[in-house]
Amino acid sequence: MTRVQGKTALITGAAMGMGEAHAKLLAKEGANVVVSDVNVEKGRIVVDTITEAGGEAMVCKHDVSDEAAWREVIGEGVTAYGKIDILVNNAGVTLQKPVHETETHEWDRLFDINVKGAFLGTKYILPAMQKAGRGSIINISSIYGLVGGPSARRSGKAR
Ligand SMILES: NC(=O)c1ccc[n+]([C@@H]2O[C@H](COP(=O)([O-])OP(=O)(O)OC[C@H]3O[C@@H](n4cnc5c(N)ncnc54)[C@H](O)[C@@H]3O)[C@@H](O)[C@H]2O)c1
Repeated sequence: MTRVQGKTALITGAAMGMGEAHAKLLAKEGANVVVSDVNVEKGRIVVDTITEAGGEAMVCKHDVSDEAAWREVIGEGVTAYGKIDILVNNAGVTLQKPVHETETHEWDRLFDINVKGAFLGTKYILPAMQKAGRGSIINISSIYGLVGGPSARRSGKAR
């Protein structure tokens, strides 16, 4: 028996990597999948793979740091499937630079996508989930959300 039959899952950053894997597994387990990503071309390939395997999916062009885009993507998902039961806040980017060489705009971009993106998703999905009386929000993080790592070396020099 499939575990999420008839449910709808919105997965951010689902055009590749872990998001793609979440999307394919949830579709295999019976969910309607909303593949959200800034890379809509790759997202479309994920949707084609899911539908060719007998699953149900749609793609939405979506920058998770864009507040208005969240309203649009949730609206598109609800219009297509009637509800959204599962949100996977997966979209994330990394920056492999020592702090003293990191530009403020690079820091802002990291936080806009990795932190504000998850906040906006939760903020805009919650009213629909409250109305339905249920729902699941899954936030994908990293070990570096819990502990730091040594990287304050001078650029170009290995430790
Ligand atoms: N892969 C790992 O080993 C690992 C380890 C720890 C944590 N994570 C976390 O897992 C998540 C996925 O990582 P991954 O390795 O699969 O990444 P990835 O780089 O393979 O894929 C990330 C996806 O997010 C999309 N994306 C980037 N910016 C976006 C934005 N502003 N809005 C919407 N989509 C956007 C990209 O287009 C891409 O499809 C991230 O949150 C990452 O921090 C991954």
